Amino acid sequence: MMNDTALLLPMRTGEIRIHDAEGFEGMRKAGRLVAECMDMLVPEVKPGVTTEHLDNLVREYVLDHGAQSATIGYRGYRHATCISVNHVICHGIPSPKPLKEGDIANIDITVIIDGWHGDHSRMFGAGELKRKAERLVDVTYEAMMAGIAQIRPGRRFGDIGGAISEIAHKNRMSVVEDFCGHGLGKLFHDEPNVVHSAAYNTGPELKPGMFFTVEPMLNLGRKDANILPDGWTAVTRDRQLSAQYEHSVGVTEDGVEIFTTSPKGWHQPHKVKL
Ligand code: MF3
Ligand code: CO
Ligand code: CO
Repeated sequence: MMNDTALLLPMRTGEIRIHDAEGFEGMRKAGRLVAECMDMLVPEVKPGVTTEHLDNLVREYVLDHGAQSATIGYRGYRHATCISVNHVICHGIPSPKPLKEGDIANIDITVIIDGWHGDHSRMFGAGELKRKAERLVDVTYEAMMAGIAQIRPGRRFGDIGGAISEIAHKNRMSVVEDFCGHGLGKLFHDEPNVVHSAAYNTGPELKPGMFFTVEPMLNLGRKDANILPDGWTAVTRDRQLSAQYEHSVGVTEDGVEIFTTSPKGWHQPHKVKL
């Protein structure tokens, strides 16, 4: 038996969907909202704050802005954010444990507005970061942006992973292979898988109207991941630090549009001095 939502959603076809101008409008609105929500968090992330409190702020913000959280109820997940601290790679569950000085945390939020998904994450720092933590966070941002810079019609999905891996390896960091970017739009996770460890000149061709995320996870140590017994939390096997950034993007006629750019220019929250 399908529920009401399923009846209104497109099916996964196995093909990469091509969206029209109305889709771009929808994604701009969803992307702007999730980026504004992330900006709202910047002054809130500091030593002593619990990730549960940050999750509450996000849940309220999303509802106050006429949107829904895509993660609440998704495969049994119950929170408006994933908050992945230090050696947690992704899908960290908000908890009553406070952040401490020097922690790095990825905050990942997905909203739905008018049926369109905005999926976005940034790295935050609590207080002063150690040099190697800051270097990981900065290289991860650089890798995501270099991946996105590859995107234009005629290039291939592997070019995104090619650029990301090149930057990671040059800096002696590894790229997580167990989690990928994904097509999105009216669906949260659609075709294709965006493989951050891919090689240049491989994979499907990029075409105008394709919407997907670029969300590389880089590790200071080895790439290998484990899932904790809670069924969600992915950690590095060697317990070394991991970082991630995520943008939702669309392929345009001559390049790429990033839907989740920070309106305040706070692309890297740990660098913002308030
Ligand atoms: N936002 C994550 C992504 O980038 C997915 C989180 S699913 C959840 O695809 F259930 F863990 F929240
Ligand atoms: Co995503
Ligand atoms: Co996400």
